[in-house]
Amino acid sequence: MNKRDFIKNISLTALASPFYLGAMNSWVKEVEHVPVKMLAEQSDFWLKIRQDYKLKPDYINLESGYYNIIPNSTLNHMMEHVKMVNLEGSFYMRKVQEENKKKMVVKLADLVGCSSNNLIITRNTTESLDMVIKGFPWKEGDEAVFAEQDYGAMKLMFDQVAKRYGIVNKVVSVMNHPSSDEEIVDLYAKAITSRTKLLMVCHMINITGQILPVKKICKMAHKRGIQVMVDGAHCIGHFEFNIDDLDCDYYGSSLHKWLAVPLGTGLLYVKEEHIDTIWPIFAESKREKNDISRLNHTGTHPVYHDLSIENAIDYYKMLGGDRKEARLRYLQEYWTSQVRGHSNIVVNTPENSHRACGIANVGIKSMKPEELADRLMEEYNIFTVAIDYANVKGCRITPNVFTLTSELDVFVNALKDMS
Ligand SMILES: Cc1ncc(COP(=O)(O)O)c(C=O)c1O
Repeated sequence: MNKRDFIKNISLTALASPFYLGAMNSWVKEVEHVPVKMLAEQSDFWLKIRQDYKLKPDYINLESGYYNIIPNSTLNHMMEHVKMVNLEGSFYMRKVQEENKKKMVVKLADLVGCSSNNLIITRNTTESLDMVIKGFPWKEGDEAVFAEQDYGAMKLMFDQVAKRYGIVNKVVSVMNHPSSDEEIVDLYAKAITSRTKLLMVCHMINITGQILPVKKICKMAHKRGIQVMVDGAHCIGHFEFNIDDLDCDYYGSSLHKWLAVPLGTGLLYVKEEHIDTIWPIFAESKREKNDISRLNHTGTHPVYHDLSIENAIDYYKMLGGDRKEARLRYLQEYWTSQVRGHSNIVVNTPENSHRACGIANVGIKSMKPEELADRLMEEYNIFTVAIDYANVKGCRITPNVFTLTSELDVFVNALKDMS
């Protein structure tokens, strides 16, 4: 085999075919004709999907928000990638990894709806968004706008750049139950001044699961010449949208959340005109203008995780993004509808279907969130996470495609018992 064929051969081995998806393929074929909303309620189908996961029988896992357990097929592919990279060693790292990474970016760009020229693979949302906040061309007196419900790591980075460059942070508080998109757009609009340069907004607030009208916020901000950075940590692989349609300036996400790629994979989208203006975390050699690879110097990292992006996308597409979204929303509404309005129980997530999907937050009025989480685990074997800041006091409840409604019944009964 000549050298070129040899390299090609390794790249193709790395990009394994959807070999492990055989069973899933036939399950999905059987339900292809069923409307997604109807399928969302068909427990037989979802019971089969559950078989694709190795789950601990010890407790009911209602905390898929931090990290999504990956299905067996992606896990098996990942193991193969690890073995392949270990077999090829430095040869893979020197001669093949870059080419494969580019292929992953193209596949990812197609999934999220943007050009691959605007996308890089990072390790997570923190890396993606903190690079933008830290590397933004700030001048003393510039202002940034974000919400107290935003994720801690990004708020800390805004604090750091405030200390370092003398910028001013304006912090809004997003209501848990907005009456309209305009109410939220107005909230951000009111925090803007002539000095505002960057607005950060969550596509989905992680502590409540509320989906924000990002497209409208971008439109409002752009009219005033302000750039918008979107925190989409929880959105890719959770509900369907495309980045170009949002018209944001930056979009960051963690692929180890809802796309169920192995740990340590994320993405950053940067609009063409900003690629040259952001300072990268790690300096890169000179590139052509607008070459996004200038932001992607990482040093050596576990490249086999990047390779698993393709397998996770294959899995997600075979299941069907619309089917997954409908099921996650159905599960959330299945349990929230049973406790909304119940005396002493507070649901901190909007009721309107398009304002939430799989994640929701619930509290008991007389109980601290931490006590609620502890009691759920100790007395009912239900694992969740307590949230106690901003206007959110409760536990974040995050089912997944493997969650059964019978598990949610246990949870609803536990809530009613305790309340
Ligand atoms: C809204 C939001 N942004 C950012 C992050 C950070 O994600 P990661 O830890 O993968 O960088 C999270 C993590 O849960 C999050 O919920």
